[in-house]
Amino acid sequence: MPIVEVNNLSVTYKTKTKRVNAVNNVSFAIEERDALGIVGESGSGKSTLAMAILRLLPQHITEVSGEIRFNGTDLLKLTDEKLAKLRWKELAVVFQKSMNSLSPLHKIGAQMSDVMRIHERSLSKRDVKSKIISLLIMVNLPERVYDLYPYELSGGMMQRVAIALSLMHNPKLLLLDEATTALDVVTQGQILEEMVELERKLGITRIMITHDMSVVASSCNKVAVMYAGQILETGLVKDVLANPVHPYTQGLLKSIPSFTGEKRNIRGIPGSLPDLSAPLKGCIYAERCEHAEEVCREMKPVDIILQGNRRVACNLAGGGKYVH
Ligand SMILES: Nc1ncnc2c1ncn2[C@@H]1O[C@H](COP(=O)(O)OP(=O)(O)OP(=O)(O)O)[C@@H](O)[C@H]1O
Ligand SMILES: [Mg+2]
Repeated sequence: MPIVEVNNLSVTYKTKTKRVNAVNNVSFAIEERDALGIVGESGSGKSTLAMAILRLLPQHITEVSGEIRFNGTDLLKLTDEKLAKLRWKELAVVFQKSMNSLSPLHKIGAQMSDVMRIHERSLSKRDVKSKIISLLIMVNLPERVYDLYPYELSGGMMQRVAIALSLMHNPKLLLLDEATTALDVVTQGQILEEMVELERKLGITRIMITHDMSVVASSCNKVAVMYAGQILETGLVKDVLANPVHPYTQGLLKSIPSFTGEKRNIRGIPGSLPDLSAPLKGCIYAERCEHAEEVCREMKPVDIILQGNRRVACNLAGGGKYVH
């Protein structure tokens, strides 16, 4: 059984003037110990999807439909009480600005202890401290961080503390939303490497949300390419990167020179995301797609299944018109 199975998930933001379809009929499944990278440009709905999985979207302004199964249980149907038990214990999250939630007035160790005590009331003070120090060491931080204030840490150290916090209760699923985006390339690379190692040791499954395909390439085994609220292509990283089928995935990869090794200018994808509040006819990417034909503007593509359990939502895929 997949650890996470999302079926036909849609999220609409209801504003005073319009309805924004931020996530539109998204489905995917991941197995235990998978690391799935969800990649797409700004505004494509990645964070909305993450917040929906964690059920952290503000209820009064959102409409959510579909299923989010975690070990078989539909999170959308759980009572708040049952959900609160799952969150942190089984599902943990790290945001880009996770550390902003820490108070500048208290030392790291004291704040981590407070979080730990919420779920583990029976532990003695000494046990809490030794558990926290071992967490700090686990994420490659020196012990002395326990006695430092947040302002005394670098950005990389802060994100390591955020990761340590997320690992506090041995979660089964870790969700990271642009958690390494603000870091320099070297520190990001180190943290990603350490994460992969840690996951192997602890048996954690990860969903990694990023706009950066190189983050997916270096730390995930599966990828879902998201565009304007939809998943356009999904499969194993090694298949998708070696042979992207959807024109959008091809465009994303062409905008990273190191992936092709060719000496040429980095090419962006002309155009911008469509208006997510307008009714949709045809393929959501048709307007920006250099291969679009009449059918693309008229017909919404159905997912085509390719070898290796790859799925591609493109009217022209499989027909050999531009692929390969
Ligand atoms: N509270 C809100 N009310 C209305 N629309 C919203 C709200 N929050 C997000 N949106 C819209 O939903 C869409 C998806 O936003 P989301 O933040 O999920 O994108 P994202 O892929 O995470 O982008 P980024 O890479 O910039 O973080 C965007 O069009 C955004 O404007
Ligand atoms: Mg986001």
